Amino acid sequence: MNRLFALTAVAIFLAFAPLQRAEAADAPQAWPFSVPAESTIPAGPLGEAIKLGQKVVTDTQNHAKAYVGNGLNCSSCHLNGGTVAGAAPFVGLWGVFPEYRSRSASVNALQTRINDCFERSMNGKALPEESPEMIGVLSYVWWLSQGVPTGMDSAGRGFKEILAPATPDKARGKSIYAQKCASCHAADGAGLNKPDGSYMFPPLWGSKAFNIGAGMARLNTAAAFVKANMPLAQGGTLSDQEAYDVAAFFTTQPRPDLAGKENDWLKGGKPKDARY
Ligand code: HEC
Ligand code: HEC
Repeated sequence: MNRLFALTAVAIFLAFAPLQRAEAADAPQAWPFSVPAESTIPAGPLGEAIKLGQKVVTDTQNHAKAYVGNGLNCSSCHLNGGTVAGAAPFVGLWGVFPEYRSRSASVNALQTRINDCFERSMNGKALPEESPEMIGVLSYVWWLSQGVPTGMDSAGRGFKEILAPATPDKARGKSIYAQKCASCHAADGAGLNKPDGSYMFPPLWGSKAFNIGAGMARLNTAAAFVKANMPLAQGGTLSDQEAYDVAAFFTTQPRPDLAGKENDWLKGGKPKDARY
């Protein structure tokens, strides 16, 4: 892209697009969201690593099985392999790590952040840092982040936060769940299996779901994800109140625990919606 054109595009974008992340209110700018064409994956070993990473993310059950402890794939939450703005995309992440995170009270490398999701969202265990799977995921994130300047958030990073209603209501959430979610995620939250045992629709609670230490177990995070992305292909159809009510319901259902969770937020910064 020609530099002047790029700068103009950014200027136009910044004029019209509100920042997608409330936490990023003090961040200077966001880079326009864009996913590279598959055809730009290079030939050769680096391209092979990128493709392995893409498989690890979209079919974690088969490509990193030993490190997964539940029924999910990364793309159960990072939709379409982390290529959807507002569904915690991987686009642009290469240049925003290392990043200080209050949960671990330390500066985390991208590998550490990826392993956080293995241990919490996937209720599994950390990938060895030099494993082909980790190198693959890093290569994939690197490829998705081409052109995004170091240190700059890509627009659509994380989830678009919504306003918390005064009182989220679990009982109302339970009936919204029955009407709008249970057809796919099942009345007992256990999801729906295909004949081969893999999931057609992933579990939201129970032994095969994300654990209590996962970001998705937090009310605000779950409500924001649901508002933008659920019911599947009908994102934006629930009101903010409904998204909060249903999130208040499913995030508080039984799910796996996380050993060592007492070591989170040791130096402060614990969010109000933390579960412990
Ligand atoms: C149950 C849902 C869920 C699953 C499954 C999941 N994640 Fe996440 N992930 C999250 C949430 C929630 C966040 C926090 C998003 C935010 O900061 O707003 C996150 C954040 C991340 C981030 C940092 C994003 C950023 O903007 O800083 C990375 C990298 C990541 N996940 C990688 C993975 C990988 C790799 C997998 C599969 C091994 C995975 N995640 C599986 C929910 C999930
Ligand atoms: C038409 C089927 C369908 C409906 C209805 C639906 N979902 Fe989902 N949901 C999915 C699928 C499929 C995924 C995984 C996305 C993927 O793999 O691409 C998902 C993922 C999720 C996830 C993250 C992954 C996990 O299992 O933790 C949450 C949370 C979620 N849905 C909540 C809801 C809520 C709340 C509702 C009701 C408001 C809802 N969904 C309605 C199909 C559905």
